[in-house]
Amino acid sequence: MSEIQDQSDPQGARRSTLFRWLDSRTGLDAVMREALDEPIPGGARFAYVFGSALLFIFISQVITGVFLALYYVPSADHAHTTVAYITKAVTAGSFLRSIHAYGSSAMVILLLLHVTQTFLYGSYKGRRELLWLSGCILFVLVLCMAFTGYLLPWDQKAYFASAVGTNIASEVPIIGDWLKRFMRGGADMGTLTLSRFFVAHVLGVPAAIFAFVALHVYLFRKAGAAGPISEDPVAPKQRTEPFYPRQVIVDAAFALLIIALLASMAHFLPFDLGPQANPADTRYIPRPEWYYIPIFQWLKYWPGALSFVGIVVIPGIIAFLFASLPFLDRRMERRPWKRPIAVGTYVFVFLALFGLGYASYHSDHSDPGYAAQIVAQQRDTEEFMRKPFEPEVAQSTASLSVIPANSLVAQGAQIYQTQSCNACHGDGGVGTPAGPKLTGIHQRFSENHLSDVLRTPSAKMVAGGMAPIDLPPDTMKALVAYLESL
Ligand code: HEC
Repeated sequence: MSEIQDQSDPQGARRSTLFRWLDSRTGLDAVMREALDEPIPGGARFAYVFGSALLFIFISQVITGVFLALYYVPSADHAHTTVAYITKAVTAGSFLRSIHAYGSSAMVILLLLHVTQTFLYGSYKGRRELLWLSGCILFVLVLCMAFTGYLLPWDQKAYFASAVGTNIASEVPIIGDWLKRFMRGGADMGTLTLSRFFVAHVLGVPAAIFAFVALHVYLFRKAGAAGPISEDPVAPKQRTEPFYPRQVIVDAAFALLIIALLASMAHFLPFDLGPQANPADTRYIPRPEWYYIPIFQWLKYWPGALSFVGIVVIPGIIAFLFASLPFLDRRMERRPWKRPIAVGTYVFVFLALFGLGYASYHSDHSDPGYAAQIVAQQRDTEEFMRKPFEPEVAQSTASLSVIPANSLVAQGAQIYQTQSCNACHGDGGVGTPAGPKLTGIHQRFSENHLSDVLRTPSAKMVAGGMAPIDLPPDTMKALVAYLESL
């Protein structure tokens, strides 16, 4: 804006020098006007808050997600222990993680409310087909975020729910097996699965969400706010009110309400973490997050050869009809009571989802063995949450049941067996009455010192029956590496 215009504008005179300095370089004033003066036919309303609330909660997810990523390591060995560390040891870690985890549910709820409002108000009508389609893509992307995020804590719940989720993909005809392997990074779930889900969760899907949010907002501004149900969606006639200040205040108040709700849930009901995933546990009953339960229940009705119909055909038809809604429903009528088919279908779909959710709850609680297992799983989770933080990585290398990662150490472990060291010192160096434990020996003996002691044992060791060990240097090195790893 030029200096002359500034002087003629009564507000311009009151604006600070800083604002004018910025405005002459960035066009800030015009940008703010474009953003804030959007006309809303019929005036500000509470019904319009859900779109901006979704944007707000998405930003909250990005910020809390960045903090979680500071500690999180996406590998089968470290994922669970790092999430346990965030939950139990990091300052405000449990709070931030809970905001992030509850935030994902909040996002799904807001998404459903936003779709409901758009649907009931007929706000998809009147040249808003692309706006609706970009919204459909955002819907799918948000569900992808929820799915990929669910695996990352690598606890029992996460592991088994995602095992089911990726198994479902293999039911897709022709490409099913490939799809499952693509998601898992192999036949089984492990570090490769985690890193794929992690990359999708923090890079791929968020990048797509940013792009589609920009497109969605652009298309929304281009079409203009649809206004109340009595309004003509193409050429609004009602008196308009600018977006700022009243709609901004209503939106901000709603955002504050959401963050207050999330913060109190995070504070009083911290989101839990179960014990580390144990793929060998065959009794575990997997359950997805609540918003996936109706779909989960639905799939149970399509066993064997029918699964193709239940997993691909019917959901495909529903998704197609949903996405093409603004192309199918061309009437300009927006009042819900004049659109019985549309509103009836909507109510039917919601009742069906609730019905499926209830059926799942009912079948979980009617079989006593099943119900007991679910209670036991909950108890394990609560027990794990009560325990103080312990790094699980060190624990797992101490037991011989896992193969040591390092090949020198693995070689040493074999020499330890062939030289019968375990006869007196026990498997894994835990000690027996015939010989002391060797775990933690690295704290007292350096590598050189240890190989010296083994070549020329002390009198006490000889007295205990331990013969001097003469091994080629390479073999000795491996044995020492193994002992130091205990
Ligand atoms: C016949 C039993 C026996 C066998 C076999 C044996 N040890 Fe020992 N080892 C002992 C006894 C007993 C001591 C403890 C002597 C003492 O009291 O200081 C000992 C001590 C040690 C120590 C020092 C521990 C410490 O804390 O000071 C090391 C290291 C060790 N053994 C390694 C080995 C290795 C490696 C092998 C296999 C190549 C082996 N031992 C085989 C009986 C045995």
